[in-house]
Amino acid sequence: MLRTFASSVILAVVSASFANAAVTTLSLDPVQGRTGAYMQGAPDAGRARAALMKGRATTIPATNLAYVQYTASVGVGSPATYYNIVIDTGSSNTFVGTGKKYVRTSTSIPTGQEVNVTYGTGFFSGYEYLDQVTIAPDFVITNQSIGDALEYADFEGVDGIIGFGPVDLTLDTLYPDVNAEIPTVMNNALSQGLISTEILGVSFAPANSYSDTNGAITLGGIDTDLYLGDITYTPVTTTYPSNYYWGVNVTLATYGETTVIPGSYAGIVDTGTTLIYIADNWYSTYQDSIPGAYYDNSTGLIVIPEQSVEYMQPFNFEIGGGIFSLSPEAQLLPKDQNEAWGAEPGLQYGYIGPIGEDSGTGLDFIIGQKFMERFYAVFDTAHNQVGFAYTTHTD
Ligand SMILES: *[C@@H]1O[C@H](CO)[C@@H](O)[C@H](O)[C@H]1NC(C)=O
Ligand SMILES: *[C@@H]1O[C@H](CO)[C@@H](O)[C@H](O)[C@H]1NC(C)=O
Ligand SMILES: *[C@@H]1O[C@H](CO)[C@@H](O)[C@H](O)[C@H]1NC(C)=O
Ligand SMILES: *[C@@H]1O[C@H](CO)[C@@H](O)[C@H](O)[C@H]1NC(C)=O
Repeated sequence: MLRTFASSVILAVVSASFANAAVTTLSLDPVQGRTGAYMQGAPDAGRARAALMKGRATTIPATNLAYVQYTASVGVGSPATYYNIVIDTGSSNTFVGTGKKYVRTSTSIPTGQEVNVTYGTGFFSGYEYLDQVTIAPDFVITNQSIGDALEYADFEGVDGIIGFGPVDLTLDTLYPDVNAEIPTVMNNALSQGLISTEILGVSFAPANSYSDTNGAITLGGIDTDLYLGDITYTPVTTTYPSNYYWGVNVTLATYGETTVIPGSYAGIVDTGTTLIYIADNWYSTYQDSIPGAYYDNSTGLIVIPEQSVEYMQPFNFEIGGGIFSLSPEAQLLPKDQNEAWGAEPGLQYGYIGPIGEDSGTGLDFIIGQKFMERFYAVFDTAHNQVGFAYTTHTD
């Protein structure tokens, strides 16, 4: 989720309706190993895999929950209580308590600090603790600063967030220590020798059911089994405010033959945002290119007339010199999910939406979950870059 700052541009980020997202009980067992699509025989797989295994890295399963968020099962305390928390590269605080309450154990140390974080949608506030965090049985972070959410909004069906954003996003979230940065899970994993480099690999995929454990995240490296070909990297942008996040420049975007993003513009890559948002003027270009398409205020989704669907074109993002193309299918909400999204049965909705402001803000798009369901993503702190690669579910 986009973490918003009181002092920064306020972004009106429209989110999908969570109204029908019933609380789902998931397996609370820490599952080790990997899930998701497996790609056999990539030409450089053996070499790259050897490189991956040289350092320490751990891959854990990720669940596509209610089609609108990805969660991981993470333990807190000793004995650990397991929480299903949102995998979020758009914020950096880690907290629990919005669904299942924080269970304090002998490892839970109050810091005496209050914590309060506001997101593009929702917020939480409560108290900050230091505790032990179990990512996998052999991957236990000690002394991790975590929030206990006592007041919150918009965390339907999940227990909190694991923040994979840059540490600067934790500034001004504690009280009274407003100037303290809170070491993130990745910061602590590195300093405690659990990983050898701060790289997060993200493998998402379109869900086949309401709770589909079809994804995986790798802490400390990339998993070459989870993508095809090479990873295309692009530097983290220097453009404010995207530079506070996993921000990148898109250098061009087209819908079929129509130019939608007309040059190099900055935005962010955010696993915690469901849709793909582009500046309102660019969204208008996209919508106007699809005969009869309109914006539905109640769901925050584009509606596309049935007769226009067969003429839809690919939406192509140019990033770091590579082309990342969303096929028509990758732009569309499968109709059998309409009910889960709180949408009208029978209508055809889409995943590309307006960000709430015209371009020129320095945060002109959000590449969210629905993009990453089609492309592998790499968040590389050490080299200050973001990478994307094709997968078996790109098309
Ligand atoms: C948390 O921050 C929000 C937005 O800044 C504010 O409205 C709210 O009162 C704060 N809550 C607490 C408990 O501090
Ligand atoms: C635990 O983490 C906090 C910050 O989150 C830090 O101030 C403190 O020094 C750490 N303690 C140890 C023993 O590493
Ligand atoms: C990135 O985009 C911003 C506009 O959002 C632009 O000012 C900047 O020059 C771009 N950076 C690069 C390296 O193209
Ligand atoms: C959607 O709502 C906004 C304000 O909330 C309004 O300005 C706009 O006209 C509405 N659009 C449609 C298509 O109803």
